Formats: sequence, C-alpha cells, structure tokens
Amino acid sequence: MYTINNQFPGPTIEANQGDTIEVTVHNNLDHPQAIHWHGIRQRGTNHMDGVPGISQCPIAPGATFVYRFTLEDEMGTYWYHSHYGNTMADGLSGAFIVHAKNDPWVKGRDYDDERIMFLSDWNDHLSEFMVHRMANYSEGYKGQAIPTQPDAVIINGIGQRECATAQPDGKIGSRIRLRLINPGSHGMIRFSIDQHVLQVIEVDDTPIEPLYLKEIALDPGQRASVVIHLNRGSQFSSFWIRGGLGARCIFGGHFIAGFAVLRYTDFKGEPWSIGSPRTAPWPGLGDGETLCQDIDELWDVKPKVVEKPPATAFSVQQMGTSFGQFVDRKTHEPFVGFGMNSVNFVNMINDPALAKVEDGIPINGSNVATLVYEHDGVGGADVIINQLDVGLAHPFHIHGRPFHILARGTGELTPDKVKDIQVNLVNPLYRDTITIGSRAWALVRIPTDNPGVWPIHCHIGWHLSAGKLGLIVIRPDVVRNFDKPQEWKDLCTGPIDEIGPGRR
Ligand code: C2O
Repeated sequence: MYTINNQFPGPTIEANQGDTIEVTVHNNLDHPQAIHWHGIRQRGTNHMDGVPGISQCPIAPGATFVYRFTLEDEMGTYWYHSHYGNTMADGLSGAFIVHAKNDPWVKGRDYDDERIMFLSDWNDHLSEFMVHRMANYSEGYKGQAIPTQPDAVIINGIGQRECATAQPDGKIGSRIRLRLINPGSHGMIRFSIDQHVLQVIEVDDTPIEPLYLKEIALDPGQRASVVIHLNRGSQFSSFWIRGGLGARCIFGGHFIAGFAVLRYTDFKGEPWSIGSPRTAPWPGLGDGETLCQDIDELWDVKPKVVEKPPATAFSVQQMGTSFGQFVDRKTHEPFVGFGMNSVNFVNMINDPALAKVEDGIPINGSNVATLVYEHDGVGGADVIINQLDVGLAHPFHIHGRPFHILARGTGELTPDKVKDIQVNLVNPLYRDTITIGSRAWALVRIPTDNPGVWPIHCHIGWHLSAGKLGLIVIRPDVVRNFDKPQEWKDLCTGPIDEIGPGRR
C-alpha cells in the first residue's frame, strides 16, 4: 500500500476555525500526486483544491508542493485524500477535524470524549494493478473491468483477515463521540455497535438534530458523528463494532465486514473489561439476505443550525450521469465507461489538445462536462443530478461548499419540471456528498458565495478514475482574477518530457 508519513490512516489534521493550514507534500512515489481536502471550502484558494487537471498540475515524482489555505466557516468532520486516479484506495487518506466555537455540539456538555473511526472497503492490490491504466485517468477508461468485490473492510487501518481488531476504549459511564469517515472506494458501510444506540449528531460536516439509530449507512466520501453512551458495561465485557459492506453481496460474493471491539475502562482508566465479546461476530446464515442490502443514507434529517438556502435560483442546469457507450476522442474507438452529461472525463493536462478553455475556464464540448454559472452572486446555482443507472446507487460529491438538498425523487427531472415539484426552502439538509439511488434525482442549490471551478463526481473511486467527473463553475468572472502563487504556477512549467508522468 501507499502511506503518508509511513502511516495509515494518514496523520490526523486537527485545527480550529480561523487557522491557516500549511501542508508540505513531498511526492516520493513514482507517479504523480495531488491531495484534496474533502469538504474544505477553499474560499479564494480554489487552486489549493488538489484536483490534477482541474485545479492544479499534479506534483511530479520527486517534487514538493506546499498547500496553504485558511479555514473560514468550516466546522466538524472532514478528511483528505489523493485525487490522482484512484490512489486514495491505496492508503493515501486521513482525517481532518475542525473545531469551532459556534459548534452546537459541545465537548464536555454533549459528549465527554471523541475518537475517529476510519472505516472502508479494502483491496489487497494497488489500484494501478487492479485495473490496468485505470489509476491514470488521463488516459481515459476503456471498459476495463472494475473490481466488484473488495477483499475486506478495515477499521482504522486494521482488517479482519488477520483477526486483529481495532480497540477503541472509553470510560464507563461516559459518552463518546465517534467521528465516522468512509474513505473507501466502492461500498456503502453499515456501521453499528452491539447493544449500543447511536445518537447521530452530524452528517458530513453539518450538525443535525439528534437521531437515534441502531445502524447507520455511509457511502464513500461521507462522514457522520455518533455519540454512544457507555452504560452497558455490567452485562457484557466487550462489544462488537461492526462495519458491514452493503451492496457487495449482489456481486455474488460473501458478506464482507470489518470488526472492532469496544471495551470499557473504569473510572481510573484501568481496563474494566477484558476478553472478547461473547456473541458471534459473523451473522448466522439466515441474516445474510438483509445484511447484503444497502440501507438508505440519512437525508430526511434536520440541520441543528438552519442555514437558509438562497430563496431563488438564477439558473437551473442538469448533470445526467450514467454508465454507457463512449467514443475515444483520439482513436474514435467505442468503449464502455462512465460519464457526466455523456462526457467521459479525460485529464486535459495529458493532452492539451482535448481541452477547450476560454480565459482559463473549461467549456463544454471539451474533455469534461461543464456547467457554468455566470452571475453577479445573487440567488443560488441549481443543479439537477440525474442518476440514470438502474440497480445502482452512486454517492455524488461537489467540491467547494455544502449544497442544500431541495428535493429528491425517482425517475428523471428536467429543468422545465422544476416549477412543478415541492422544494424545501425552509430547513433543507446541506452536506457535501449525497447518495442517489437507482434511476433517481436530486435537486440541489449551491449558494454562489464561493466562486471556483468545482468538480462534481461520483465518490466511488473506481468510477471517478474511470471518468465520472464533471465541473460546476461558479462565477467565472471572479475565478479569472484569482491570484495564484508562483509555486503553483511552477507545477505546470518545465519540458513535458521531464514532467512526464507529472503531466498525466
Ligand atoms: Cu473526496 Cu473530489 O473528492
């Protein structure tokens, strides 16, 4: 696997709102890299967003780049990951926690302590070996088989194949906030802890009115915080923490899960419970059926701090996404792949001839589907995301800032029908990654207060690296005037041969 500072998960970045973050990335790999800060707004620093071919030239092997940005209105649970091909699946990710004075959920009052749980699917082979050339999406996806069956689920870097378990512990009687992050590349994770109710207080980075669940589902890219009350210690010594991979059973595989053990410590911090949980970790065969299903992601929930969406939209545009037939732009050969508005994303840095750029802004008809919202900043940018695949669900992430979910439904929605549907303009949930089910849509409104060239993509890493990425350009008039530091410009200079793989 690949690691950051020799560890996985990568080092946790923990900061306060208002801090300026500086991260120096030395690329010691033999292929290029770029690091994206998932959910971080990058207000005025769009060029630090870390998407090769969109917001920066990649960091060539052996090269160094300093990311620098300020946390303005961020608050809550974030993460960072490689945005090059699907190398995030190889271990290039970590947690990024932002504390804020105005967080409605307060440590000491609403919970006593916190832990990070990084839980996701895992493949035993490097992404570039699993699907030939797919790790390098600059060359496009040519219908190569996509891995359908992850090998394991890992929790905080520890997997079940060797029977090891991560062991979060907590003082008996206390309430622990678990910050759940799914950095995976394929499957929805169903998370639960035996005998403990999950009090859900955060969805992505949005604080919500509490919900009480036995099980919570997280797709790749999504986060949630759940508070658990350690009040069951007299009955059993320790408890299974379960991370089951939802949809993967439909590929004919067996049920895959990762496990961790929750143990209590006593009031002095000494172990209260030792030994293993007494229940069976694996479900009985009869349970297989329901365990294999995805469960609904959280969406019918109320934000705790209501952020009103702009009352009107100045433009409604749509992004239709599907698996299908595409034609290679160079060879004109047909292939089966993923696209947005029928365009399969190809990294323009590798082949500038493919790019159509006007004044620094990608335009349609080029290597990437692009929605441009040119406007003076009043009203929101409405995006209809039509998920046209049948029998599949996809998590869509939009960079830049959380979007308001005004409505969702099944079938397909077109801009002319928007006036006929019911929208929530009072207290809609806002988040940065939304799962849309089989042939269904969501109407989301993006406030235009964060100008930039922002990717919208499926966060299933294999689909992303196979070209399922489009762009939302908010206020190109402002973007054109961003000041970019010299070190950023330096990434794109030098003879193409020398930069070589960096260019791709
Ligand atoms: Cu979490 Cu475009 O990424």
